[in-house]
Amino acid sequence: ALKVRAKVLEMNREAARFYYHMLTGDQGKGALAYLHGRGLTDKTITRFGLGYARDNWDDLLRHLQQKGFTPEEIISANLASRSQKGGAYDQFRNRIIFPIIDIRGNVVAFGGRNLGESGPKYLNSSETPVYNKSRNLYALNIAKATKEKRFILAEGYMDVVAIHQGGFDNAVASLGTALTSEQARMIASYTGEIVVSYDADEAGQKATKRAIGILEQAGLTVRVLKVEGAKDPDEFIKKYGSARFRMLLDGSSGATEYALSKLKTKYNLELPDGRVGYLKEACGLLASLKSPVERDVYAGRLSAQLNVQKQAIEEQVKGFIERDK
Ligand code: UTP
Ligand code: MN
Ligand code: MN
Ligand code: MN
Ligand code: MN
Repeated sequence: ALKVRAKVLEMNREAARFYYHMLTGDQGKGALAYLHGRGLTDKTITRFGLGYARDNWDDLLRHLQQKGFTPEEIISANLASRSQKGGAYDQFRNRIIFPIIDIRGNVVAFGGRNLGESGPKYLNSSETPVYNKSRNLYALNIAKATKEKRFILAEGYMDVVAIHQGGFDNAVASLGTALTSEQARMIASYTGEIVVSYDADEAGQKATKRAIGILEQAGLTVRVLKVEGAKDPDEFIKKYGSARFRMLLDGSSGATEYALSKLKTKYNLELPDGRVGYLKEACGLLASLKSPVERDVYAGRLSAQLNVQKQAIEEQVKGFIERDK
């Protein structure tokens, strides 16, 4: 099994090298222009070892076979697939390649961003002898050495790369899958605090809510950053610059504040019924908090904001706690 792993890792490294040479060579002019057009510098491209897979069926297959690997081995690394006729074809075609590197510096898998119209926008390696997608995070190999006291969690490859280029070496992403508890525990082994910075759309906000729970389970202090006026961190930094992103980061709200502000939008606080509805749900939320101090701070805030006796809020919260016991 060790030999199989070593072989796949060797193959992956060779593939990453090949894709990188494709991007930076004559064949890659269009792909490189695409990345430059998205604001990436050559330094960033090199730092992340980005690459290019041409729109051909066997570029990588032929290259790896020249290096002595068999089609079966190449398929086992998920770098090629078996064709109906029994041959093989390259897995990644007409895509920008993002090598996924583990904390030991091994190239364990790849993500590929479509440069054309057909097929999914991103393609990710499936599981192989060296890759378990719920136990890896994109760019953790870089972020693990950060001097920042917290990490940033983004949705996508391009977000992480753009955030890094913006001067933050502490961003990671969860690789085309929903965040897992293993990934949260990995993050918690490097830092005590994380800022979730997912996409601004409905899907991203739903995923944020889910991620908060998983990250808190792992013992992390969670903050939330929502980009305004852009669909994701990558677009935000490109439009407004990294200084503005830093400001959002510094002003990011705690998980409770974030949840309360989401809740608020559901109710019309001008109406008594709306206020009651909001307060009851908000009290339910406070009841679920582990820290009595945090509960007290937010009970005070709710009391001031909605002009309701703090004692009434506290009683409501206590009622919920008793009920949920
Ligand atoms: P997004 O659709 O938000 O893409 O998916 P993006 O990262 O902003 O990409 P650009 O800016 O258009 O290039 C977020 C992440 O979800 C995963 C990828 O990891 C992607 O980075 N994803 C998305 C997939 O795995 N497959 C897809 O088809 C789309
Ligand atoms: Mn070749
Ligand atoms: Mn999205
Ligand atoms: Mn994007
Ligand atoms: Mn996005």
